[in-house]
Amino acid sequence: MKSNSILEFYDVSFTYPGDKQAVIQNLSFAAEQGEFISIIGPSGCGKSTLFRLLTGLEETIEGEITLDGAPAVKNRGAAGYMPQQDLLLPWRTIAENAAISLECQGMKKRDAYEKVSEFLEIFGLKGYEKKYPKDLSGGMRQRVSFLRTFLTGADVLLLDEPFSALDAITKLRMQEWLYKQWSKWNKTIVFITHDVEEALFLSSRILVITEKPIQKLREFTVPLPKERTRNDLSKMELVQMKQSLIELLKEKVMV
Ligand SMILES: Nc1ncnc2c1ncn2[C@@H]1O[C@H](COP(=O)(O)OP(=O)(O)OP(=O)(O)O)[C@@H](O)[C@H]1O
Ligand SMILES: [Mg+2]
Repeated sequence: MKSNSILEFYDVSFTYPGDKQAVIQNLSFAAEQGEFISIIGPSGCGKSTLFRLLTGLEETIEGEITLDGAPAVKNRGAAGYMPQQDLLLPWRTIAENAAISLECQGMKKRDAYEKVSEFLEIFGLKGYEKKYPKDLSGGMRQRVSFLRTFLTGADVLLLDEPFSALDAITKLRMQEWLYKQWSKWNKTIVFITHDVEEALFLSSRILVITEKPIQKLREFTVPLPKERTRNDLSKMELVQMKQSLIELLKEKVMV
């Protein structure tokens, strides 16, 4: 195993209980501290399962998964996880939902709300803090869930399609905000998306799933510096990479 990786899968195999076909078979890959990695692949190929294993919601059958050098199951606090379903608590207001991660870390309620309120504007939730999840649109609920994950302060953020329900403009705004935050932190982000352009704009590396069970990830290094703008996506190399990624995904539609 590589010792300097913040996150590592080593020869991991996994099958859901009762299933015949494995989702993951002898898979190894790693992320280094400070990387922004996107994972793309067809629906049902096992992307969310990778996160469920990393967060200990499922246990590996074989192999080892580490977070910051320790077995992932024993080091859950190292990763902030934003699941694909928002899992907001219906009886808590928006501010209370966003504050959960801070309260879990022992922060007093009042301090936690103060911290949450600093971020309401950028997350497009100002004015909604006293409302309940049922009063919000899908995209807004997604932003509450993202804020909650962001506020964990964890060194590794696992974001499962965080912007999939957002309208085009809000999505661009959130992407730019996230990229700016990531450039300032030394955090590691693993980001699942179906949006190839989003992956190219945000990532240093893109890992593509092309097979089931997942044995290897095809790797693409995005040929852009850390300082980048959305206009860079029109560069020839980027347009070509986008085309190759789309072709690869088109070939691999799975049922
Ligand atoms: N809790 C579960 N129990 C049994 N099988 C499951 C469970 N969760 C997922 N699966 C199966 O595992 C496979 C991978 O599912 P997963 O949710 O990881 O896919 P995904 O790549 O995240 O898909 P999507 O892009 O649609 O979110 C699918 O065949 C799915 O039916
Ligand atoms: Mg998924």
